[in-house]
Amino acid sequence: MKKLDSASPQTAAARLRKISPLRPTLAVVLGSGFHHALTELRVAKKISYAQIPGFPKPTVSGHAGELYFGHFGATPVLVLSGRAHFYEGHEMERVTFATRTLAAFGITDLLLTNAAGGINRKFCAGDFMVLTDHINFMGVNPLRGPQPKELPRFVDLTEAYDKKLRELLFKAGKITKLKLQRGVYLAVSGPTYETPAEICAYATLGADAVGMSTVPETIAARQHGLRVAAISCITNLAAGISQEHLSHTEVLETAERVKHSGAQLIKNFSELYGKR
Ligand code: HPA
Repeated sequence: MKKLDSASPQTAAARLRKISPLRPTLAVVLGSGFHHALTELRVAKKISYAQIPGFPKPTVSGHAGELYFGHFGATPVLVLSGRAHFYEGHEMERVTFATRTLAAFGITDLLLTNAAGGINRKFCAGDFMVLTDHINFMGVNPLRGPQPKELPRFVDLTEAYDKKLRELLFKAGKITKLKLQRGVYLAVSGPTYETPAEICAYATLGADAVGMSTVPETIAARQHGLRVAAISCITNLAAGISQEHLSHTEVLETAERVKHSGAQLIKNFSELYGKR
């Protein structure tokens, strides 16, 4: 395991402040299915993660590793294209580093996006699901370890996903003419897809979708008091829900098919956020 470089989120945030005078309060993390949102962004400045101290270098294809200052409509935003996943071998400290940097920068509201497998039998590949809650099945909690200064030790997750931001997502869905699903996201560490028996167990536990990201970022964001909203692109039906075998190719193909809807949804959400 590589040793973390010693940069702190405060150092990274100071670097970001030097890049642009823009001071957005909303940040959007683009996962699979949502990268096309960049075509809707009026870019003010772009920086590679490699130039931000402590930022991860993504290794998954389709995750660029770039941070943008810009506007969706009239709303200033920070957009992160690419994230560090636990399955890449990163420590949780690294997985949550960008989130902590956003908090140090002054972001107050965070929209997380991801690709997920649909467990709920009412879901179809290509649907979008607003997260109402999550189940952390990654086998590790990102807040484990020494208590960071001035942050709570025990974090309340009763409303991990902010009600008002969720309402804004549904409003954005209406404007985009997209029927949004809602449900519970269960996070696994990956990188294998699940067995049908696991999916059966997760359905019993109350999960509607399964994925390999987002939950560590949500938990770190809540520790810093950020409001969080999250949306999944259901890129495939989870193992055993359909007769098909799972592949990353299918995930990418579905993401490609619905990329325009995902992009419009994010843009419309950001515009509503700016006007609220
Ligand atoms: N399982 C876990 N993660 C995923 C899936 C899945 O079926 N699809 C996209 N990300």
